[in-house]
Amino acid sequence: MCGIFGYVGKKVNIERVLIDGLKTLEYRGYDSAGIAFVTDKVEILKTTGKISALENMIDEDLLSNIGIAHTRWATHGNATTINAHPHRSGSVTIIHNGIIENYLELKEMLIKEGYSFVSETDTEIVAALLDYLKSKDIWSNLEVIKEMSSYIKGSYALGIIFDDELDTLYATRKDSPLIIGVGEEENLIASDVAAIINFTKNYFLLNNYDIVKITNNGVDIYNENLEPIRKNINTVYWNVEEAEKNGFPHFMLKEIYEEGKVLKDTINEYVESIDSFINKMPDFSKYDNIHIVACGSAMHAGLIGKHLIENYAGIKVDVEIASEYRYKKEFYNDKTLVILISQSGETADTIASLRKANEDGIDTLGIVNVVGSTIARESKNVLYIRAGVEIAVATTKAYLLQVAMLELINLKLMLERNLITGERLQELLQSLSTVPKLIDEVIAKDKNYIDIAKYIYEDKDLFYIGRGIDYAISLEGSLKLKEISYMHSEAYQAGELKHGTISLIEEGTPVIAIMTDPELSLKTISNIKEVVARGAKVILITTNELDGDYDFIDQKVVLPKVDNYLVPLLTVVPLQLIAYHVADLRKCDIDKPRNLAKSVTVE
Ligand code: G6P
Repeated sequence: MCGIFGYVGKKVNIERVLIDGLKTLEYRGYDSAGIAFVTDKVEILKTTGKISALENMIDEDLLSNIGIAHTRWATHGNATTINAHPHRSGSVTIIHNGIIENYLELKEMLIKEGYSFVSETDTEIVAALLDYLKSKDIWSNLEVIKEMSSYIKGSYALGIIFDDELDTLYATRKDSPLIIGVGEEENLIASDVAAIINFTKNYFLLNNYDIVKITNNGVDIYNENLEPIRKNINTVYWNVEEAEKNGFPHFMLKEIYEEGKVLKDTINEYVESIDSFINKMPDFSKYDNIHIVACGSAMHAGLIGKHLIENYAGIKVDVEIASEYRYKKEFYNDKTLVILISQSGETADTIASLRKANEDGIDTLGIVNVVGSTIARESKNVLYIRAGVEIAVATTKAYLLQVAMLELINLKLMLERNLITGERLQELLQSLSTVPKLIDEVIAKDKNYIDIAKYIYEDKDLFYIGRGIDYAISLEGSLKLKEISYMHSEAYQAGELKHGTISLIEEGTPVIAIMTDPELSLKTISNIKEVVARGAKVILITTNELDGDYDFIDQKVVLPKVDNYLVPLLTVVPLQLIAYHVADLRKCDIDKPRNLAKSVTVE
């Protein structure tokens, strides 16, 4: 989704600074980009397509130390240069992330006041609104921004430069992410920390309606009543190198290769000892039902959690897509726990679902990667996963850690319900601690996945089948493939395929069958034979326990032995790597797939 970056400080080659800032936001997904900077007036450069196109337009020798920059992911209006940000009206230049819901109403009002508009965006309306409020000539720029917020319905993170205060960058937010980076003789605004770490590791977060004023002299912060306030400074806990490819051809591959390490970091944080595990996990004893609410891969992680928690801890779990949940009649009660899963902590629909549960007085728990994000801040309780920065749009390591966190929650639930003894818990945690190494072993068989990718990458459609928890994993495998390789695929419950979809299986159709559950394996084998009989070429993903001499299989991945409840942490890895290699063979833009955004901050 749209990325915001702004700079005021000691560096004087502002166009280069802004372009470099935008490059660090590229991973969020965008289709046009632009910058505005101050010389003796505000200058704007913008274009569609990649940031490299914008880079070709800059003058490296130009001297200025204040500017704003934006990557746009089109919502209101097509991806054109005119619709790209920054937008300017009268004496005001802005960049914006979010959606102004009442923009048509505001547009009508502003047209009556003599304003005209060149773009189709809601953002240009905000620029005009600010200019209109300024023209009243009774307010300072701070007051103008405060007044603006009372006109707008919707969400926004804004960077603003007023012509009458060219040495000052203003920023404000409501329901869209925005952080303020605090460096030495340089300060920044950005959509997320990835954009500031080349300058500083220190940053603070803004509450809704806070306004910041950044000049060469520093940062002043005001609350919604324009009272000066102070903020706690946070520190980014990962390094600049983590946001670099370090020799890997793509961030996605690098992030898959990091899975063992980040799992280890997360386990170390929560499972130093049995006592620390018990203390760090919330007390779940009052709940008798759970809703897991999320989008995309995070929702798929929730489905793994449902299988684990229902089967091992015996508690009913409903998994809901956040964009549906937020508008749904809810059946929660005072014994319901609503778990929100989100890598970014900024997904608009997940935030809305969280707020709905909070307003209804239902307990909420966020499973989040980005520290201090909206979901982390607004959930009653938060459990952080430690994935570090994830740059590739298609999530891999964060998904894995979301599953791991649900594994830990499941263990805590089992302990609270006396379904396992402390001794058994110790054993299970011990076997969890072996998984990072096993993940490295699975990754080391990359040639196996390249061979499979070569075997299927020219096909048009692909089916994933599995039963129970393997079906939940199939959904993630299928999503990964679609996202990055643009190959059509569907995931099916292995026993359900014959109720219609099997009509699509023909000679040579690839089917990836996942079979890791010993109790269901014979059933899955029957389902595999059904597709083989119709000409499918089958790739089997199974465990060494269930491995056999299956002559009806074309390719195979065998996972190392691990406790049954931990298998999903291994199964997903080959699926991610197969999707990656297929996308690579199809020459796709793996880290930035078309039309997708890393963090979906609009409805
Ligand atoms: C986007 C991303 C997906 C992600 C989903 C939820 O669609 O492309 O990879 O799973 O959002 O994101 P979240 O940050 O809430 O986990």
